[in-house]
Amino acid sequence: MLEKLTKWKSSLSSQEGPKIEDVNVPRHIAIIMDGNGRWAKRKGLPRIAGHREGMKVINKVVRKADELGVEILTLYAFSTENWKRPKTEVDYLMKLPERFLNKELPMLMEKNVKVRLMGSIENLPEHTKRAVSKAVKDTEKNTGLILNFALNYGSRFELMEAVKKIANQIENGSLSAEEINESVLKENLMTAELRDPDLLIRTSGEIRLSNFMLWQVAYSEFWFTDVLWPDFDEQHLVEAIAVYQKRARRYGGV
Ligand code: FPP
Repeated sequence: MLEKLTKWKSSLSSQEGPKIEDVNVPRHIAIIMDGNGRWAKRKGLPRIAGHREGMKVINKVVRKADELGVEILTLYAFSTENWKRPKTEVDYLMKLPERFLNKELPMLMEKNVKVRLMGSIENLPEHTKRAVSKAVKDTEKNTGLILNFALNYGSRFELMEAVKKIANQIENGSLSAEEINESVLKENLMTAELRDPDLLIRTSGEIRLSNFMLWQVAYSEFWFTDVLWPDFDEQHLVEAIAVYQKRARRYGGV
């Protein structure tokens, strides 16, 4: 524990670029990893080359988040709307979790990272499902950073499903309509046991949420950058945290 604390403190003071405080590091960071296609296009490469590079960035971001003491890192890897893309691109995107985990599972184990998923996992191809389920199982006893992959995830779908679950509980008599409150809704979301994101990052210059964690980001700080996801690195993460730390969060108070 002491060793981890010393490593963390020295990592904060050895930062190049913006300095961040060793208190008030966002406990949950959610990232919309955008701009892979444009990155590839600018380089005259096929879109999938952008996704391949984008996958490599995850290693850097996980390591840095872990080092800084972030507790939860949620990554938007595939949305319910992404099925509209050309089949070859979807097929490629569906291979990425497998590739990533084949390569990075030893690192995740070494760093004590616990992999978690949110989204409609049942509707993924068998090979993708197998790979992600294995990663969840292999890391289930880890107690460090929670790496939460949003895979086949859409916030409206999530909210719809939560409403259905609550309706079922009312139908079977285990809940009454009067008992519905924010906690009941939260418990029925795909993030039931997770705190809400403190900081939301979106890359590539787009300023929108794209159906991502609409309920959960109600009080999150947002940080947008023009950097395309494949160019995102540890220093950008530190920059986002530095901006977060300068903002005062009032949660509607004064
Ligand atoms: C958005 O860029 C990116 C995605 C839809 C996919 C993100 C996936 C990864 C970064 C890799 C996932 C890896 C794992 C391990 C799950 P875009 O294609 O919309 O870019 P564009 O807006 O420039 O076209």
